[in-house]
Amino acid sequence: MKAAILIESLTGNTWKAGELIAANLQQEGWQISGFAPMGSPDHAAIQAADVVVVGTWVHGLFVVAQAPWGVDRIRALPKMSGKKVAAFCTYALNPGKSLDVVTRELGSTGAEVVGGLTLQRGRLAAHSEEFAARLADAVSVA
Ligand SMILES: Cc1cc2nc3c(=O)[nH]c(=O)nc-3n(C[C@H](O)[C@H](O)[C@H](O)COP(=O)(O)O)c2cc1C
Repeated sequence: MKAAILIESLTGNTWKAGELIAANLQQEGWQISGFAPMGSPDHAAIQAADVVVVGTWVHGLFVVAQAPWGVDRIRALPKMSGKKVAAFCTYALNPGKSLDVVTRELGSTGAEVVGGLTLQRGRLAAHSEEFAARLADAVSVA
């Protein structure tokens, strides 16, 4: 399997999670066709990928009004019909419904959403490993 990874990150946690997910997927035998900020997607890498992984972070008032950052950038992504997509959001205390918003928006790219997970910023290694394992399972079953 080939994955392209698109990341929205302000302070680096989501970028780090993306790197950990890429490393975990490579351990599962996957190739990474590209790793780019969501604002400047690598179209060739997306084209080459079977699965696109989209990561962003949660902003809000920590326990209320949470939303994913960068929804406008998700909306601006190229059409991804025929691709599978999986999303994650890093957060500190409570992600609210941010992941639901991301997956809904990703659905409008035409991609098939195969999963998503929220990743607590203090447990990035464990949660990134879980994300990669679940993604590999979801794709192998599909
Ligand atoms: C302005 C701002 C608002 C935030 N609001 C929330 C929030 O409402 N709930 C939460 O769980 N984390 C919140 N966080 C924490 C971030 O989601 C968390 O640190 C995330 O990992 C940041 O990702 P990044 O390092 O890739 O930018 C907020 C962070 C910032 C900077």
